[in-house]
Amino acid sequence: MKLAVVGGGSTYTPELIDGFARLRDTLPVSELVLIDPAAERLELIGGLARRIFARQGHPGRITTTSDLDAGIAGADAVLLQLRIGGQAARLQDETWPLECGCVGQETTGAGGLAKALRTVPVVLDIADRVRRTNPDAWIIDFTNPVGIVTRALLQAGHKAVGLCNVAIGLQRKFAALLDLAPADIHLDHVGLNHLTWELGVRRGGPDGEDLLATLLAAHGEAVASDLRLPRAVLDRLGVVPSYYLRYFYAHDEVVRELGTKPSRAAEVAAMERELLALYGDPALDEKPALLAKRGGAFYSEAAVDLAASLLGDGGPAVQVVNTYNNGTLPFLPDDAVIEVQARVDGSGAAPLAVPRLDPLFAGLISHVSAYEDLALDAALRGGRERVFKALLAHPLVGQFELAEGLTDRLLAHNKEHLPWA
Ligand code: G6P
Ligand code: MN
Repeated sequence: MKLAVVGGGSTYTPELIDGFARLRDTLPVSELVLIDPAAERLELIGGLARRIFARQGHPGRITTTSDLDAGIAGADAVLLQLRIGGQAARLQDETWPLECGCVGQETTGAGGLAKALRTVPVVLDIADRVRRTNPDAWIIDFTNPVGIVTRALLQAGHKAVGLCNVAIGLQRKFAALLDLAPADIHLDHVGLNHLTWELGVRRGGPDGEDLLATLLAAHGEAVASDLRLPRAVLDRLGVVPSYYLRYFYAHDEVVRELGTKPSRAAEVAAMERELLALYGDPALDEKPALLAKRGGAFYSEAAVDLAASLLGDGGPAVQVVNTYNNGTLPFLPDDAVIEVQARVDGSGAAPLAVPRLDPLFAGLISHVSAYEDLALDAALRGGRERVFKALLAHPLVGQFELAEGLTDRLLAHNKEHLPWA
């Protein structure tokens, strides 16, 4: 089995390699190609990746290339984990929205729109090249904003599934708190990428006993403090929101906080410098502990599960993924992309049925999904007015003057990435 990773020069890559190495029985990778335009970085990460495989006795071959077409040729699956403009562009996304009193975040709100505009055209070009070399290849997208990028891929007719680590992270956390094996925990995970709630925590399978009330009674404090939300929010809603809901439920507080501390982009850039120095050490042959301070915990395990199910039958039958709604949430268009539990096999992902949602969640999902629709239109067709309308439609923006101010800033800060701006 040949896999290609676009953005293989990412500092996250050792996380992925570690998962491939440990879980080789689930996903037998014989050839892994790391693709990245940053040749120097790629060499460094390629070297460490080979040492991780060697330490674990993995027989697979790891190669590196900056030639996208050569790298993806013959791949059974192509993993996308790229960041157009790198941490520098992320820093912008996190900064200028604050000037308007709005949250500055790489996937939520105006910053997320900027990222979508920069990213969608590049990802679609890569996917076209994948289809030309191997029309049967699966595209697994971790590239943010995952919901919008996956929707772009699916609407262009690609064989794509979107993936995020939020669900698997909560599954692992809840399993540890409840003293159960992770595979025994199934989350009633519902919403859009980075806008989800756990409505149930089931034991044994998607229809198993719901342990959510037990979890909250025994460990509500720990769960809430991890999400940095007041415990009362969890108790009163009777669900566990993802930590991205904090940008909505505590928007003004987050904005105040962001104004007084270093940005996440700056933190990550400093960590990346440290990580790259570690990766250059020829004695290092495992992922360093520092990598755990990045947000990507367990993402390799989710990726292994998903690739295994799409390419064979090694993965769990039911996984949380991003795919077409197709009637699952009846209040959304069929071609909206949602993040829910789905049955995954060689034919793709099919969402499990979701019971009627409380308007408390359905309202926000509808609102953000409509924004995503307009955001994708802006990413595909460009134009100031489309950017403005997407921002006006976003529940964290909504006001005319605010949308105007954000549009001006978004375009000013992204000129080099947006040929039409
Ligand atoms: C989580 C999200 C990812 C996001 C990451 C950011 O893992 O699911 O979509 O990219 O956090 O982590 P970072 O360490 O870059 O802040
Ligand atoms: Mn994510």
